[in-house]
Amino acid sequence: MKTLIIYYSQARGNTKRIAEMIHSEVESDIAEIETVKPYEGSYEEIVEQGQREVENGTMPAIRPLSKKIADYDRIILGTPTWWYTMAPTVRTFLDAYDLSGKEVVLFQTHGGWAGHTIKDMKKLIKGNVVSDYAIQFDSTGGDELVTDIAEIEEWIRGL
Ligand SMILES: Cc1cc2nc3c(=O)[nH]c(=O)nc-3n(C[C@H](O)[C@H](O)[C@H](O)COP(=O)(O)O)c2cc1C
Repeated sequence: MKTLIIYYSQARGNTKRIAEMIHSEVESDIAEIETVKPYEGSYEEIVEQGQREVENGTMPAIRPLSKKIADYDRIILGTPTWWYTMAPTVRTFLDAYDLSGKEVVLFQTHGGWAGHTIKDMKKLIKGNVVSDYAIQFDSTGGDELVTDIAEIEEWIRGL
């Protein structure tokens, strides 16, 4: 089974860190979802912009993915939590790319309020979501892991 890890990571590199942990353990390729226009401003400003985008259903433009989804059987997709749901950029990705027929594993990083992220993503994915996992970082929006690293490693071994 060929696996592609796809992630979006903006604020602290937390989601990227988890994606890279998976990549180092699981035979896979990896691709980052990138916005055409980077978010700018302070963390607080981006949190506010994110709130507006989530409320308005804004889908920021993204660059074409560096890997071809058709070449893979399994997609492991990771998002940071933005206002209790997926980052708007990941919404753009799910709108633009068809995951039907793929085995899909979802993960999210968050600061203590995981919200309805996975439920919302499942609604947009026509593929077969086989499992999901939430990883907590600190509640101040920093990069300190709260979820036990051993637990994360165990999850990764099970993939
Ligand atoms: C715009 C924005 C909104 C956020 N909303 C939430 C939230 O609703 N719940 C939560 O637990 N954390 C929230 N956070 C914190 C991030 O989900 C968390 O720090 C995540 O690990 C950041 O991942 P990244 O470094 O890969 O971007 C938010 C952060 C940002 C920038």
